[in-house]
Amino acid sequence: MGYVIGIDLGTSAVKALLADRTGNVKAEASRSYELLHPHSGWSEQRPEDWVERTIEAIAELAGGLGEGAGEIEGISFSGQMHGLILLDESGRPVRNAILWNDTRTTEQCREIERTAGSRLLEIARNQALEGFTLPKILWVRQHEPEVFARAHSFVLPKDYVRYRLTGQIHMDYSDAAGTLLLDVGGKHWSSELLGAFQLEKSLCPPLVESHACTGTLLAEVSERTGLHPETKVFAGGADNACGAIGAGILSEGVTLASIGTSGVILSSEKDKEINYDGKVHFFNHGKEDAYYAMGVTLAAGYSLSWFRSTFAPGESYDELLADVGAVQPGAGGLLFTPYLVGERTPHADSVIRASFIGVDSGHKRAHFARAVMEGITFSLHESVDLLRRAGKKIDQVISIGGGAQNPVWLQMQADIFGATVVALENEQGPGMGAVMLAAYGSGWFDSLETCAAQFVKYGAVYEPQPEAAEVYARLFPVYQQVYSQTRSLNEELRSFRS
Ligand code: XUL
Repeated sequence: MGYVIGIDLGTSAVKALLADRTGNVKAEASRSYELLHPHSGWSEQRPEDWVERTIEAIAELAGGLGEGAGEIEGISFSGQMHGLILLDESGRPVRNAILWNDTRTTEQCREIERTAGSRLLEIARNQALEGFTLPKILWVRQHEPEVFARAHSFVLPKDYVRYRLTGQIHMDYSDAAGTLLLDVGGKHWSSELLGAFQLEKSLCPPLVESHACTGTLLAEVSERTGLHPETKVFAGGADNACGAIGAGILSEGVTLASIGTSGVILSSEKDKEINYDGKVHFFNHGKEDAYYAMGVTLAAGYSLSWFRSTFAPGESYDELLADVGAVQPGAGGLLFTPYLVGERTPHADSVIRASFIGVDSGHKRAHFARAVMEGITFSLHESVDLLRRAGKKIDQVISIGGGAQNPVWLQMQADIFGATVVALENEQGPGMGAVMLAAYGSGWFDSLETCAAQFVKYGAVYEPQPEAAEVYARLFPVYQQVYSQTRSLNEELRSFRS
């Protein structure tokens, strides 16, 4: 028969998908792990947790196939982006991983701007943002010099897991683009940027394409997972690149809205010279020699999971959201801004925090839940708006992740974005992109496009409803003001945070 496994190494959990040659997902296994917040704004994980939980998830899939596990031909990855794992000479992490949603590095971002000036945008094609990897490297060097002295190389989250499965260290272009050390257009580590920050080139792993074969399984991993030791392991890509691949976004024209822990609006680009002036991220795609532009909401799905765990502990999302459809668009004048951990697009700001504005004695919990969904969607609409202002036509959006699990939310996206929103028939998030990279890498298809034609199935379509769209068009500028009106208040509140 022939199978592949796609591993989505997320922020709250790892999810492994087992798919056959037709793209049918035969089984999935998921394991969660802890997110550590030692201080306000810090976000870390133990790399060993990723490895152990990934091995368990693969073993569960292989166990379900019994004798058939020998037919698993390849594995690939989708990974949470930007997280820094520094490795010592023998390949062991010298400290916990510092994640994409950690905002401790504002000072290092300013240092990067001072040192690299306009060359940063010209070479790395992105602004210095707290979440990216270079500021984290500089933070460790400044604050933990004895730890940094032991660092021999660095990798990103999924690269570490892949390394532990194969014994080989690599990084693919789509993830390397989020480090701020890659010459994004030239597809090589930038000697100029490395030199500017006195970093050795030997710190950077060899670069490969996302579908490249990076090795086979170590004997011990093969034993623990039940997979054949010759199972091929393909590099994989950044989660947002994989989300796009899994939604069939491989050329210009269609936009992706993905709501995971973070939320993104992503649009594929064929012209690598296009200049967004750093207003949105610009990264290499998981497809060879392709690119994408993207705006990011730091706490998208995270805002809803925070709301649920804080105000409805123990309830399922279905229970929490049961009544939101009965609340009119606009949530009765209740607005939420999703700045729980700061923001990226359009306000690169680690100090700003979330607000509920307009709380009225008549509001029930369903109004708050709807306001959270609307606030997340308004935040994503800021990215849609930015891309439109830069000349992009956005009239069709493929929605994946948490926002695609709920028909009210899908309709809300159509109404707020003012675009046709399409759900996938068998929505699996970025894990499907990892499956497709493994399928293409294994030689099942001659391109990612032919793989997408077989694996990606579009489902329900949502058109903007004029009345709701009109309400949201009036509310959006009010939402946009909340940032500027609460900015200085949050600056003052900052010293009260633990
Ligand atoms: C993108 C970003 C997030 C993470 C989430 O720049 O930081 O979307 O990739 O895993």
